[in-house]
Amino acid sequence: MKKDLTSIQDLSLKEINDIFSLTAQLKKNKNKFSQVLSGKTLALIFQKPSCRTRVSFEVGMYQLGGNSIYLSPGELNLGVRESIADVAKTLSRYIDGIVLRTFEHHNLLEMAKYAAVPVINGLSDFSHPCQALADIYTIKEKLKDFKGKLLAYVGDGNNVCNSLLFACARLGLKVNVATPEGFQPDESALKAAKNVAKTFYRAEEAVKDADVIYTDVWASMGQEEEAEKRKEIFKEFQINRNLVKLAGKNALIMHCLPAHRGEEITDEVIESKNSIVFDQAENRMHVQKAILIKLLK
Ligand code: CP
Ligand code: NVA
Repeated sequence: MKKDLTSIQDLSLKEINDIFSLTAQLKKNKNKFSQVLSGKTLALIFQKPSCRTRVSFEVGMYQLGGNSIYLSPGELNLGVRESIADVAKTLSRYIDGIVLRTFEHHNLLEMAKYAAVPVINGLSDFSHPCQALADIYTIKEKLKDFKGKLLAYVGDGNNVCNSLLFACARLGLKVNVATPEGFQPDESALKAAKNVAKTFYRAEEAVKDADVIYTDVWASMGQEEEAEKRKEIFKEFQINRNLVKLAGKNALIMHCLPAHRGEEITDEVIESKNSIVFDQAENRMHVQKAILIKLLK
C-alpha cells in the first residue's frame, strides 16, 4: 500500500517520531544515504510560486541519489488541459512520487486518490504539513523537550497555522493562536488541537510567557488582491520589539518565509539573535529527505 502525506493527520505520533529520528541521522551522516533513492524520480507539480519547497525537494532528492522533474503552473495546466485523475494515472507509470502545490485542498486528495504512487502536499490553501514537520523538528532541536513549552502563533489562521495546530495536537505541544476576528484557523484544526490550543483576538495575550513566537504573511498566495485591506485588519498583530518583550525570556522567533518585513514582522525582530527562521528553512530539506525515504523507498 502506498502512503500519502496530504495532511499531518495522515501520520501517527510514531510515524512522526520515526521521521524525526531519521532526519537527525540524515543531518549527521549525509554520505550514508547518498544512494538510498537511486533510480527513483519525483515529480514536483507547482501551481503557485516557491523558493524553499521546490529547491529543498529537488536538492534533497538529488542528495538521496534520485531525480526530480519540476512541472511549472503553465506546464500541466492541471484540470484544464487534462483532469487531475488522468495526470495522476499517467505520471504513476513514469515516476515514484508526486509533490503537489495547489490552491484547493481537494486537488491534493484527488491526486492522491488516482495516483498509484505517494502524493505529498507541498502546500494547499488548507495546509502545509511539510512546513509544520520541519518547524516542530526545529523547535525540538532548540528546546529539546516540549514539556511545559508554549508556542504562540500570531497573525492569519491560514494553511501554515492549520498544520501547526495538527502537529501540536499530535506531539502535545501547547499552542496559543491570536488572530483578528473572522481569521481564525479552520474548525477541523481547532477541533483536533482542542486539548493543547487556546485562541485569542489579541496578540499581547497570546504571547504571554511563550517560548516560541511564530508568524506568517497576512495575505497568502492567491489572496494578493486582499493585501491592502488585510494590512489594516492585521496591524495590531505585528511581531515587533514591544510584543516580543511580553513573551518568555529568550523566546524563539519563527516564520515559514517568505516574510513581508515591516508588515507581519519587523526587520529588527526577524534579524534578532533569537530568530531561527533560516534554521527552519534549512530543516525543510532534512525533514523532507526523511519523508521521501519513508514514502518512496
Ligand atoms: N515556506 C515555504 O513553503 O516557502 P516557499 O513558498 O518558498 O516554498
Ligand atoms: N501562508 C503562506 C505560506 C507560504 C509558504 C501562503 O500560502 O502563501
